[in-house]
Amino acid sequence: MEQTPAQQPDPPITRVWPKLAQYLSVVDALAAAQASKAWHHAVTDASPWAPRRIDGAKAAVAACEAAAAAARATANVPHKYRRSRLMDLEDRPAYRNFVSGEVGALSLARILGACSLDGKFVDLGSGTGRPLVYAATLGSFAEVVGLELLDGYVRSSRETLAQLDGCKWRIHQQDFVSEEGAAVWRDADVVFAASTVFDEAQMARLAARAAALKRGARVVTLDVALPSPHFAVEWLIKCPDCSWGAARAFVQRRV
Ligand SMILES: C[S@@+](CC[C@H](N)C(=O)[O-])C[C@H]1O[C@@H](n2cnc3c(N)ncnc32)[C@H](O)[C@@H]1O
Repeated sequence: MEQTPAQQPDPPITRVWPKLAQYLSVVDALAAAQASKAWHHAVTDASPWAPRRIDGAKAAVAACEAAAAAARATANVPHKYRRSRLMDLEDRPAYRNFVSGEVGALSLARILGACSLDGKFVDLGSGTGRPLVYAATLGSFAEVVGLELLDGYVRSSRETLAQLDGCKWRIHQQDFVSEEGAAVWRDADVVFAASTVFDEAQMARLAARAAALKRGARVVTLDVALPSPHFAVEWLIKCPDCSWGAARAFVQRRV
């Protein structure tokens, strides 16, 4: 009987497509690093992942917002402006950049656990100011700084942050990608942007401004990595408690 030659197995897809191999090894490395980091945080009670610290951060937001509401009521200030008039922006091409949404305390704790907790923390598009209160409570930052364009958010977040004890804070009503806005966060240690809905043009401008940061500074973006050769992705972090659902955080280091 005639013998058929043994069938050669196909080469693994990762050999025929080196780019995929490279991508898979990066994903593996991240997963392994992530696992060891998760373990580290699980066993370190002082870490920002410790549940009691996350509860403390949520309580700090609730206390600051309640105190701000009480102060407003005493001063008889109407709080109509607390709602930003997003609809006014609908006709702008960049409308989607201004869609509201809040990152949760657990997500921010996980993010900070992968960054340094000291120095200057900046939230690009700081909205209601909650991430600034979380950062001030979870970390040991010397200052927390927000940049926000919408009037309603700027005013209400300032009222909230005014109730915060023990951490220097500032909220600038500025476009964070403008020249003046970028000067505010050029010396930051940790920069956070809830960028899930930011459009490509804004992400490109953010990346260009971020190149001015010092080596080692972290920039954390949600769902979209920084389009920049000056940053290395260190962590991919699951953020389960954003107001719009789940997101992934890219923790990137200035190299
Ligand atoms: C999704 S919200 C996130 C709010 C906050 N960081 C949080 O997680 O709770 C994004 C915010 O970025 C603000 N924003 C978008 N583009 C901006 C820009 N170029 N300059 C300043 N603020 C901006 C929007 O007004 C909005 O409040």
